[in-house]
Amino acid sequence: MRRKIVAGNWKMNKTFSEAQELMNQLSTYQKKHTSGCEVYIAPPSLYLTAAMDIFTQHEVRVFSQEVSLHTEGAFTGEISVDMLSSIRATGTLIGHSERRQYHGETDANCNKKVKLALDKGLIPIYCNGETLEQRKSGQHFNVIKDQTEVALFSLTPDEIKKVVIAYEPVWAIGTGETASPEQAQEIHAYIRGLIAEKYGQEVADEVSILYGGSVKPDNAKEIFSKPDVDGGLIGGASLKIDDFTAIIKAFD
Ligand code: PGA
Repeated sequence: MRRKIVAGNWKMNKTFSEAQELMNQLSTYQKKHTSGCEVYIAPPSLYLTAAMDIFTQHEVRVFSQEVSLHTEGAFTGEISVDMLSSIRATGTLIGHSERRQYHGETDANCNKKVKLALDKGLIPIYCNGETLEQRKSGQHFNVIKDQTEVALFSLTPDEIKKVVIAYEPVWAIGTGETASPEQAQEIHAYIRGLIAEKYGQEVADEVSILYGGSVKPDNAKEIFSKPDVDGGLIGGASLKIDDFTAIIKAFD
């Protein structure tokens, strides 16, 4: 059975005290409820160690929003896989569309980062997705195919099983426009099919594929009910405790 996951990507939001408050609320919620999914958050890196101190029972798993391509040294502002494993973070986002758009992230880099993370026992959440132009011109399947192959297909079967994929159509991120549940299912099934072709169905069936892009309490349940959608990567709605927990409850 593959993992069901609701992951919050906080991006560059919240002061330290606001972040602590939300983490404490989430910890309390998770300790009281038996959620039908695993719950992850990716707070700003400055708050990662505070998050580790709060979620001591692993009621929420802590992820970085980004990781360096380099392992150590003169790379000002970067965070390494060793640093993440030394604080016992669970994993890291890799290839988020905002990193691609504003920081020149590429799939070749993502491939290296995914391998570095796996080597340290970290779970990579590899993000991909097409832009509006690419969808309008009917290129979305090819874009997803290229992204998935370049970033992931040099992994071994055992390695790819540990990767979480987040399909996030760029046109749906932070726009309030969500892919329909059918559109999400179509791409998720396509990605799983690509993995099955390369690694076999058994391996493909173990890879969790999350949907991201304007998931909200009122659309989460329907999107998550699709057979190849194993949860969500949530931006804006992960910043409010009521919204985030309502999305977690979609798996109850
Ligand atoms: P959003 O962001 O839920 O605010 O659209 C999702 C993401 O970027 O991961």
